[in-house]
Amino acid sequence: MAIVYLNGQFVPEDQAHVSVLDRGFIFGDGVYEVIPVYGARLFRLDEHIDRLDNSLNAIRLTNPLTRPQWKNLLTTLVEQNGTGDLAVYLQITRGVAKRDHALPSEPKHTVFAMANPLSPPNKAELLNGVAAITHDDYRWKNCHIKSISLLPNILLRQQAIDAGALETILIRDEEATEGAASNLFIVNNGTIITPPKGQFLLPGITRDLILELAQKNNLAHQEASISATQLQQAQEVWLTSSMKEILPVTRLDDAPVGDGKAGPVWSTMFDLYQDFKQQLRTQSA
Ligand code: PDD
Repeated sequence: MAIVYLNGQFVPEDQAHVSVLDRGFIFGDGVYEVIPVYGARLFRLDEHIDRLDNSLNAIRLTNPLTRPQWKNLLTTLVEQNGTGDLAVYLQITRGVAKRDHALPSEPKHTVFAMANPLSPPNKAELLNGVAAITHDDYRWKNCHIKSISLLPNILLRQQAIDAGALETILIRDEEATEGAASNLFIVNNGTIITPPKGQFLLPGITRDLILELAQKNNLAHQEASISATQLQQAQEVWLTSSMKEILPVTRLDDAPVGDGKAGPVWSTMFDLYQDFKQQLRTQSA
């Protein structure tokens, strides 16, 4: 059975229990991270902790652990959960308190982390790409916070599933922002484009790495808003996340994207991303 971390202890998953008064349970009052692990190495841990700090600051909660403590905790969690690739999920809530919307003056954080097997799709499986739909982005205006309150994201994602697609690309004021649980890239005239960071999308760790890889490898790229029309006319559309890596979207709202197959720029970026992962696996600890 998987070993999880809860408030200072590593225990089998079925022995980890949280109070019904936890503000995470009552209000969805907390933040989270998802960190891939390749060959026992935590992928971009510092960047994930930076984003966690930003999310915590935004919800006015202190980080209960220092960076070395996080590193220690997560490394131990990984060691306890086998040798394969993993997705570490961690969440911090404002903990147990009498139900009251106002913030408790001295919150008792609940800190939880688990590690599940990770198996991102391989290139051959991705050549036909995936389907996506578009939908009005009816979430709030703090999408840069990695909040555990994910009801809109869940409902938006489910609309894609109901339509036989994998993800919903969100449109706000005629601009495409991101997916329900992923960031968005298009390729237009050979240039890789992703919307700039801000309050309408999560600053994805995968997104940043793709921009870095584009920069290093002299691939034309820019951070610029993507209109709904540009999205529909793009040569390539990609969705990115820690779990999905880089997914080529080949059907959008029931119409083919480009020639309906994963595109050449995606193929190049996919290989660069795999090389980066491979380097991480072989790097000394
Ligand atoms: N979600 N945008 C949203 C709304 C997301 O939920 C995610 C990731 C991303 C991509 O971020 P990153 O590259 O750091 O994974 C963008 C995670 C994987 C999840 O909720 O499971």
